[in-house]
Amino acid sequence: MDELELLIDLHITNHRQGPGNDETTMKAFELTGLSPENSIKIADIGCGTGAQTITLAKNTKAAITAIDIYPVFLNKLNRTAHKLKLNNINTRAGSMDQLSFDQETFDLIWSEGAIYNMGFEAGINYWKQFLKKGGYIAVSEISWLSNERPEELTAHWQKEYPQIDTVSGNIRKLESNGYSPVAHFIISKDCWMENYYKPLENGFEAFLQKYNHSLEAQDIVEEEKKDIAIFNKYHNFYGYGFYIAKKL
Ligand SMILES: C[S@@+](CC[C@H](N)C(=O)[O-])C[C@H]1O[C@@H](n2cnc3c(N)ncnc32)[C@H](O)[C@@H]1O
Repeated sequence: MDELELLIDLHITNHRQGPGNDETTMKAFELTGLSPENSIKIADIGCGTGAQTITLAKNTKAAITAIDIYPVFLNKLNRTAHKLKLNNINTRAGSMDQLSFDQETFDLIWSEGAIYNMGFEAGINYWKQFLKKGGYIAVSEISWLSNERPEELTAHWQKEYPQIDTVSGNIRKLESNGYSPVAHFIISKDCWMENYYKPLENGFEAFLQKYNHSLEAQDIVEEEKKDIAIFNKYHNFYGYGFYIAKKL
């Protein structure tokens, strides 16, 4: 098994593959001002196993197309949707930077904790063509919460994601890419710890046992532990900003 397959296997057993929770998803939806009663079209890009897709599908009458590059995540989402008798979700395997939708298809483009895979600015710019005029984007992105930060943290994010920007920097990117910012907020620490890192940590031992404590499996767990330690130490300096904006 290669590193990617191991990573997928560690994360697929969890409800979420990134920080978030149901309240956060619905808060962002409400901030768009769109009615949950209307049969709007939503694209959920980088949906993973679909924690937020399921929340949107349960609480709105939208038709949702959930997109991820890894079909195994989509298979799990399809099984969950089937179990919950939700028939407003369609899944599509593909890369977020090579989407094959018609122009101006969607009323809302959603993406939680995934746009970093192509970069915030590249993502908002590329996805805009698939939004109807006056449509909305709701996207969460790792963000600096201050202009001042410890060197150790700067070095960490320089290595992990050098494109990380401040909240105001991300808002400026929305403005200069044809959007009008509508709202933004920072997701809570609980979204990270209770809903993402703790379930992940709880799975470390079983994961290591499954792979007989192989060096590759140990490396993956050590990397995750480092990320968690950084978050515990420095969560006042960075977090996920949820950005809601309207296509002009
Ligand atoms: C941090 S996870 C977030 C998943 C989910 N939105 C959540 O919050 O639980 C990032 C997701 O992006 C997906 N992804 C990575 N590269 C991608 C790409 N090029 N195109 C589409 N999805 C991609 C991963 O498979 C993963 O499901």
